[in-house]
Amino acid sequence: MRIDILTIFPELFESPFGHSMLKRAQNKGFIEIFIHNIRDYSTDKHKSVDDYAFGGGAGMVMMIQPIEDLILKLKLERDYDEIIYMTPDAKVFNQKEANRLSLSENIIILCGHYKGVDQRIRDHYITKEISIGDYVLTGGELAAAIVVDSIVRLIPGVLSDETSALTDSFQDNLLSPPVYTRPADHNGWKIPEVLLSGNDKLIDEWREKQSMELTMRVRPDLLDD
Ligand code: ADE
Repeated sequence: MRIDILTIFPELFESPFGHSMLKRAQNKGFIEIFIHNIRDYSTDKHKSVDDYAFGGGAGMVMMIQPIEDLILKLKLERDYDEIIYMTPDAKVFNQKEANRLSLSENIIILCGHYKGVDQRIRDHYITKEISIGDYVLTGGELAAAIVVDSIVRLIPGVLSDETSALTDSFQDNLLSPPVYTRPADHNGWKIPEVLLSGNDKLIDEWREKQSMELTMRVRPDLLDD
């Protein structure tokens, strides 16, 4: 899978993509991530990437030219499954969408800043818009890193224990049950007895019940789907 990220702050991706699982996934060749600086494509003599909003009002708008030139260059080189725009005014991302995107060959992710991008970029090039939640970040970069992380860990082979992504919270619209490790008794805080029983059936039933109860208590909306 190849992911091209379009941003005016490429440095913001150095840390999230330079460590742990995302780094390993790149080193092992499961994924290629290319970070493009939109400013490099500006034909303006000051390398501007934004301008005042027509109609007035506070905040600058990211202009069409550098983004369009960059998208057209990438599209000439290969086909893309999706051209995604990160923005708070979109449908909220979820596990189902992560599963779907993890099957892509090539995707572009455009990160917005200021008041966002000129609507005509959205109208003519963007095929999917993603919000990571009902709050506003300073830009789309951190949101893009979250989306990439959630996608990459689903690519077969990226996680060392292949089954672990399947038992994540949300994969069956349920939250994960509690987990425990040694010691079984920490100063009187004991783990549930059933987990020491060695009876897989009983343990599975206990986990399912815990999942259901937790979901009903903190995310009953998931059970409506
Ligand atoms: N950019 C700013 N806020 C965002 C959000 N909540 N989701 C995606 N991109 C954003």
